[in-house]
Amino acid sequence: MKNTVLTFKKAKEEGTKITMLTCYDYSTAKLIDEAGINSILVGDSLGNVMLGYEDTVSVTMEDMIHHGAAVARGAKNAMVVIDMPFMSYQTSVYDAVVNAGRLMKEGRANAVKLEGGVDVAPQIKAIVAAGIPVVAHIGLTPQSINAFGGHRVQGKTEAAAKKLLEDAKAVEEAGAFCVVIEGVPAALAKIVTERVSIPTIGIGAGPDCDGQVLVYQDMLGMYSDFTPKFVKKFANTGEVMKAAFAQYAKEVNEGTFPSAEHCYTIDNDVIEKLY
Ligand code: KIV
Repeated sequence: MKNTVLTFKKAKEEGTKITMLTCYDYSTAKLIDEAGINSILVGDSLGNVMLGYEDTVSVTMEDMIHHGAAVARGAKNAMVVIDMPFMSYQTSVYDAVVNAGRLMKEGRANAVKLEGGVDVAPQIKAIVAAGIPVVAHIGLTPQSINAFGGHRVQGKTEAAAKKLLEDAKAVEEAGAFCVVIEGVPAALAKIVTERVSIPTIGIGAGPDCDGQVLVYQDMLGMYSDFTPKFVKKFANTGEVMKAAFAQYAKEVNEGTFPSAEHCYTIDNDVIEKLY
């Protein structure tokens, strides 16, 4: 059955966990969907893991639509959330609604995600009013990496912890149906989770959030440029891929691939007529 905003609401009410993974392509979306993951996030982390940028700042609406639509074609049951890229919503409420609409119409998203708390509450309110479900994202918001001065854990001082709580309340009041909390101390994410009625999805925010999200290349050991403390490698797929690529090269070089089982046949009399 398709996961929807109602699945998220029910999970919070019943205390069952919500699973989310990032994804950026059709084949992987099918695998994640078949594994029964509740939601797929087409994150702007595609700037890092798919496009090789240092950060997410250069990701465009076209990138998100291109990858989002591919994922949507592969996701039968998982709810597809597409990230709004940097400067697609910060500029104005009008831009936010227009760009959220494009992610729904052209990217075939089921919901959009944007970064920020109190500051983007008007954008969230307007997008929700247009009938588009919104996932908020607070704490360590990667689009603000230049303002933070790097990937730093957020909410560690009293003032910063109070600000995080204010942000969570603001996005809840603006109508977000869910909030991602990234890179904050576990004990603080627990308090946020207890104080809001919408589900919290943690990444580097401890075990007490209502759900968890990870970047799939991180949890499969496929991306080694930067591995945050909160990443657990559930498989060493990167090593398996490298070994398979090397084996392929070896067999091609030795002439053992392709063998007879991988070749098409033709009647000998046809071949003889060609000599
Ligand atoms: O872009 C992304 O992958 C994200 C997750 C880290 C939550 O926003």
